[in-house]
Amino acid sequence: MPHSVRAVIARAQGEPVSMETIEVPDPGPGEALVAVKACGVCHTDLHYREGAINDEFPFLLGHEAAGIVEAVGNDVTNVAPGDFVILNWRAVCGECRSCKRGRPWYCFATHNATQKMTLDGVELSPALGIGAFAEKTLVAAGQATKVDPSASPEAAGLIGCGVMAGLGAAMNTGGVGRGDSVAVFGCGGVGNAAIAGARLAGAHTIIGIDIDAGKLELAREFGATHTIDSSSEDPVEAVRALTGGNGVDVAIEAVGRPEVYEQAFFARDLAGTVVLVGVPNPTMRVDLPMIEVFGRGGSLKSSWYGDCLPERDFPMLIDLYLQGRLDLDRFVSETIALDEVEEAFHRMERGEVIRSVVVL
Ligand SMILES: NC(=O)c1ccc[n+]([C@@H]2O[C@H](COP(=O)([O-])OP(=O)(O)OC[C@H]3O[C@@H](n4cnc5c(N)ncnc54)[C@H](O)[C@@H]3O)[C@@H](O)[C@H]2O)c1
Ligand SMILES: [Zn+2]
Ligand SMILES: [Zn+2]
Repeated sequence: MPHSVRAVIARAQGEPVSMETIEVPDPGPGEALVAVKACGVCHTDLHYREGAINDEFPFLLGHEAAGIVEAVGNDVTNVAPGDFVILNWRAVCGECRSCKRGRPWYCFATHNATQKMTLDGVELSPALGIGAFAEKTLVAAGQATKVDPSASPEAAGLIGCGVMAGLGAAMNTGGVGRGDSVAVFGCGGVGNAAIAGARLAGAHTIIGIDIDAGKLELAREFGATHTIDSSSEDPVEAVRALTGGNGVDVAIEAVGRPEVYEQAFFARDLAGTVVLVGVPNPTMRVDLPMIEVFGRGGSLKSSWYGDCLPERDFPMLIDLYLQGRLDLDRFVSETIALDEVEEAFHRMERGEVIRSVVVL
């Protein structure tokens, strides 16, 4: 029997989202039905609504979520009904050429539910293969990772996207280690998580850069040792001034804009690493002097989901949270109801929040 549940749908490009009743099938082989308890509002949901990801409307938005497994398909063994889980959008396949080479965090064939959720008989495109601005959602069982149920759902859910992307951009992709200098461009949910990750990894100098003074204040709370307001100061010069004229070992771009990527590129020390975690739109281009790409050495990397492995990283990060070493609660600016996502998008655009989290 399919389940009729309330959900947040983006029907057309740029139009406000609407509350609809959708149909969610019972789980088949390899699938899990999850009762969503909390789901953060991530900038990527807004990118979907704006048609910046693809044009496969209608979208079922929401992808940064925690919940309780309600039912699983016959063959599912990794989770069972009643488990407290964080949903992930990269359930690795174990069989593609990247998984077989021992690099599963790059998996090229990640799993999603096979059956479709529908609205009036029309197949929905769930954001990042999750679709968790809904009372229930259907995912591939590998997209549900069991964690300690004593964590609050609104904090735990954040690990499912932005916080993992940021922490992992610093700790996994950027390989930040003890004594490193790090600059993070854009101090929203993702950027501040990168700052928290750099601190956890033992960075010595952590520079938060944003055009919004309020975000810079938060960056200090998450562990930035210095901040730069790039609306009034050249961030490349300012980063150099804070690093003995050299630039940083790791420069993390957490905005998704060409001019910010170029700043990150030039704010890095010789042989340093640039990590792009912000998501550009398909029209954006970067223009860099090729001689500088060569002459500066080091590496230019992109970070998909913080190069995480949910089974390895989510339970560990929840343990750090429960031990008081990773302040997930600080990312939660407000909790809201399911029908308040559109207003939360506007608050995000105005820079008023780190994360609005829908609680069900
Ligand atoms: N790679 C991934 O796996 C992944 C995962 C989640 C989110 N993202 C992306 O990361 C980016 C950030 O997401 P978020 O949720 O933190 O968004 P957000 O809106 O909360 O934060 C963006 C921040 O960038 C700042 N900013 C805007 N223009 C700037 C500029 N020119 N210079 C410096 N700072 C500027 C804003 O003031 C804001 O603080 C988005 O593009 C999002 O889609 C990527
Ligand atoms: Zn794979
Ligand atoms: Zn996200």
